[in-house]
Amino acid sequence: MARVPFIAGNWKLNLGPAEAGELAEALASALADRGEVEVAVFPTALSALTVAGAVEGSGIEVGLQEIHSAASGAFTGTNSARMAREAGLTRVLIGHSERRQLFGETDAGVRAKVELALAEGLLPIVCVGETLEERDAGQVEAVVHRQVAAALEGLEPDQVAAITLAYEPVWAIGTGRTATPAQAQEVHASIRGWLRAHFPAFVAEDMRIQYGGSVKPGNAAELLACEDIDGALVGGASLKADSFAGIVAAVR
Ligand code: PGA
Repeated sequence: MARVPFIAGNWKLNLGPAEAGELAEALASALADRGEVEVAVFPTALSALTVAGAVEGSGIEVGLQEIHSAASGAFTGTNSARMAREAGLTRVLIGHSERRQLFGETDAGVRAKVELALAEGLLPIVCVGETLEERDAGQVEAVVHRQVAAALEGLEPDQVAAITLAYEPVWAIGTGRTATPAQAQEVHASIRGWLRAHFPAFVAEDMRIQYGGSVKPGNAAELLACEDIDGALVGGASLKADSFAGIVAAVR
């Protein structure tokens, strides 16, 4: 069975409830006839309920950009997987490079969050990707495989099937510098190879692996045409309805 393409928008620290609600309404109408493609958006936690209300009935999914690595307790200033689920959200981003680089996220933290999310029935997008120094040092595969292994190894195949991976080279995020389709495809194929070696065949065949890093309407089609690129995780270009819709329309 072919993998259904999956386009997600990470709104990061942008758009409070009013603006986020407007964008969500615009997306619900712009994407009404999107065909067979899955779409999710990740507003700030404070805007998530407004967005969920605005896209209700559109099939657009809404998730949190981050959850805490403990289920509950004295952890000022964060949100839990259970709260996301209770609020009616369905998805969560885990291990985004900004969390890893700016907020001290670790492979172990990513794993804890994956398990909490799965326990609550949330569908995680787990982000992996190398820095420019790691790429220049020839460590792309080692780094990405290590991150994927930390997140997935030892989980039940059924659990892994609930997860989407996003390959986001850190040097391509928010820089306007996109990986070439060939560069991205090479890493995506290598991740799928790792999945094949560690899980039953259906896991590798069904797993959506998104590309992220300066995806725009103008470069989305050639990236999405690659065999192992099953969607996109979009930052900057997801903040406007027309550019995000342009990326969704690039799915063939
Ligand atoms: P960008 O961000 O599209 O602005 O490069 C991608 C991401 O951080 O997921």
